Amino acid sequence: TSFATMVDEQAAEFRVQTAAYRGPTVFEAEMDRIFYKSWVYLCHESEVEKPGDFKSTQIGTRPVIVARDRDGQIHASLNACPHRGATVCREEKGNTRAFVCPYHGWSFRPSGALIGIPDEARYAEGFCKTDKNLKAVPRVASYGGLVFGSFNAEVVDLETWLGGVKKHIDIWLKRASGSRYRVATSHKYGYDGNWKFQTENIYDGYHPGFVHGSAFRTVKKFEGSFVNRELNTAVRQQGFTRGYPEGHGTLEAGAPLESGGIDAQVLADYEGQLRERYGEEGAAEVLTNRQFLVFPNLAIFDFNIRVIQPVSHDRTEVISYPVLIEDAHEQINSNHMLDAQTRVGTAGILSADDIDVFAGGQNALKAGGFDWITLSRGLAKEEIKDDGERVGVYSDETPQRAFWRRWKAMMGAAA
Ligand code: FES
Repeated sequence: TSFATMVDEQAAEFRVQTAAYRGPTVFEAEMDRIFYKSWVYLCHESEVEKPGDFKSTQIGTRPVIVARDRDGQIHASLNACPHRGATVCREEKGNTRAFVCPYHGWSFRPSGALIGIPDEARYAEGFCKTDKNLKAVPRVASYGGLVFGSFNAEVVDLETWLGGVKKHIDIWLKRASGSRYRVATSHKYGYDGNWKFQTENIYDGYHPGFVHGSAFRTVKKFEGSFVNRELNTAVRQQGFTRGYPEGHGTLEAGAPLESGGIDAQVLADYEGQLRERYGEEGAAEVLTNRQFLVFPNLAIFDFNIRVIQPVSHDRTEVISYPVLIEDAHEQINSNHMLDAQTRVGTAGILSADDIDVFAGGQNALKAGGFDWITLSRGLAKEEIKDDGERVGVYSDETPQRAFWRRWKAMMGAAA
């Protein structure tokens, strides 16, 4: 199958074949050529803070344990027992001195090193134990507290991988105003649709006035927020979308953060701190609504880290982590939680609107009858900078095209 021909870019039109969203063949190739070749987000450092802290996660569909060992190092290992393949760690998170496989009791250090085999005397003298550690994820690195892993030992270093999106991570980190982020408990939701429906939605500034129009008109939280003020112009021109050669993309509203539930004085203090620390312009940048995708599946949505977890070609899970600031006023943090609960998290009204569209889209694609979808909005109008950054207006499909260009490059390469 030639996956590269599924993305077709011409002067006036950028098209993607509907086949790219369905069927196990494309999905399996995406695992091999994208997820097992890329840096993939594993966790936030605050989730594995102390020696023995661990978290279960995935790279693509492979189960992975991330854990901090006694040496303070963060390790990532395949969560599959080298004895006969059982899932070794069945907890979502916790703290342990050793992982003990539930099937026959082989035990492993947080680093993945084999500690012991029950009744070892029954094994022959020459039985090799050194290759019976949990299989290590060969590359682990972090940037700004975000921990990534890669099954590709040859992958470029993490900062090169992040490329153009690094500056958006840096701006996002400044929101902690000199303090650190901690992630709160995760929330999970799923939908019957392809994972790329969600990646394409993270920075989609074309849809809010339509899909979420009724929410903006009726939900108290949105009163006075920029979305409501500008409902008259359902398709926004203000603000920016950006796409990067590495496949990442952003949406910036160019408007102050929504601030429901925060006393005016508390908000003024927080904003004042940011101005003092980063200057007028720097603070304005920090306070801009900003949502971005780190290719392939990490989304940062203001105060929310979201992992878009592919399950199969037509099933996806989204894990949402509200982000708290360690030393912030409690109203700031409770607003972050509120944001996750009411807007972008599991029960958030915006997420519910979106996944309804994703599931409908998957059904239509499955039924067939049309071969291409189009992502052409703003195509000929976007500004292309020297470093390859492309800039469009808020409602352009600039970041989606950046995603698909990278998808095409990776899917077109040999596995
Ligand atoms: Fe893990 Fe047997 S499968 S100990």
